Amino acid sequence: MRIGIGMLGLGTVGSEVYRLVQEGRDEISRRLDATLEVVAVAVRDPSRVRACSVPESLLRPTPESVVRDPDVDLVVELMGGIEPAREAVTHALRARKPVVTANKALLAEHGTELFELCDRRRTEIAFEAAVGGAVPIVRTLRLSLAADRVERLVAIINGTTNYVLGSMAEGRSYPEALAEAQRLGYAEADPRLDVEGHDAAQKLALLIGLAFGAPLHWSAVPTIGIGHLTPADLSHAAELSHCVKLLARAERRTGQGRLAVRVGPHLVPRGSLLASVSGANNAVLLDSRAAGPSVLVGRGAGGLATAAAVVADMIDVARRIVAGSAGIGPYLWASGPLPFADLDEEVERAYLRISVQDRPGVLGRLTTLLGEHRVSIASLVQRGHQVDPVDVVLLTHPCRVRDLRLALEAIAKDECVLEPPCWLPILEA
Ligand code: NAP
Ligand code: HSE
Repeated sequence: MRIGIGMLGLGTVGSEVYRLVQEGRDEISRRLDATLEVVAVAVRDPSRVRACSVPESLLRPTPESVVRDPDVDLVVELMGGIEPAREAVTHALRARKPVVTANKALLAEHGTELFELCDRRRTEIAFEAAVGGAVPIVRTLRLSLAADRVERLVAIINGTTNYVLGSMAEGRSYPEALAEAQRLGYAEADPRLDVEGHDAAQKLALLIGLAFGAPLHWSAVPTIGIGHLTPADLSHAAELSHCVKLLARAERRTGQGRLAVRVGPHLVPRGSLLASVSGANNAVLLDSRAAGPSVLVGRGAGGLATAAAVVADMIDVARRIVAGSAGIGPYLWASGPLPFADLDEEVERAYLRISVQDRPGVLGRLTTLLGEHRVSIASLVQRGHQVDPVDVVLLTHPCRVRDLRLALEAIAKDECVLEPPCWLPILEA
């Protein structure tokens, strides 16, 4: 049996998918008892030089013409963004052509309607590559933990920011590190999605649907990016035996029936597993009632790693085409919405960097303001000497986030404080 593949997009990921399908043709046929054959490809600019060579005869002028091609049985969407991806995927599903995609932006924005359409038309969308690149977290949550109850999920799910923070810790500037991440094919077409934390929030929303059965629009995830961090934050963290990681977290709060959800930079203890996740790698820590703790780590971004996950999904979906079986929904949102815990009520330790003028009495005023707001100091150092600004770096004992926030608002108003204080939660090992 031959399964006709229609590809939408032939960029960083698409080119590697094409190459893997061509080079792995015989092996895939053996595993599948069918052949995957790319029969149509849509790109924006047919004259562009690509990392793979595709016969001109396969190129089509629009995504729509690929989806409508009667030889296409399976649509692989790798254009990214919302439109025309949403329209093309919708048309494919209406025509009962299954879709494989790596497009978390599309699924986080329009997942509900697309998954419902799958269920109605008894077809499917496979999206392993949309979260964690080559890390098989979607399959793990959907299949391996299907009988379990996830209590906690803490993850590094954006390769670009992990790469940038690691490079900055080694002394590179933020623009240099980001440019390198872009050159290596890790970043989104608009890298603000990465550095502002939105890509991680989109992926977290999908994971929450899978892990907690809770429908969630990604824009509801409280999100902080890495743009306000300075190289000094990374070196202060290192001196304190920590590193800085952009984490995506979703944790059930026992007794409240609520989920504490957030994306943002954290201090992570140097000896911990998450601290060892370097470069563009990703990691997902899960704590579930029956299975206990489990960890998945691997390449989270980059053309080849992501393509491996895409092609694995193509093989998986093709198996069901060969078997003549329908879609495998229902997809996400198995249960109802889960209310969010108020992050202001969370109790956690924090790292603070406060840039001040080096004047008599400044430290006293800072510590008094923290004390007045019930924030207890675990350690304090001043970095720099008489050349303004100097950084006062503090670690707190566990404190209520609301108290800390109000203390920092008061501190920011002090005439010797030169810029808004930076604070990061510290992840407990
Ligand atoms: P990319 O390099 O920018 O490639 C996008 C491809 O889509 C290009 O070939 C482009 O055509 C084509 N395209 C865009 N708009 C089109 C349109 N209107 N009509 C036809 N073709 C169009 O992006 P990418 O890095 O491969 O990412 C693709 C998807 O994978 C995104 O959803 C991304 O979030 C996701 N993803 C990427 C990675 C990664 O590490 N890069 C990892 C996981 C998931 P031209 O080549 O002619 O411009
Ligand atoms: N831009 C994304 C990242 C690609 O850096 O993680 C993988 O989804």
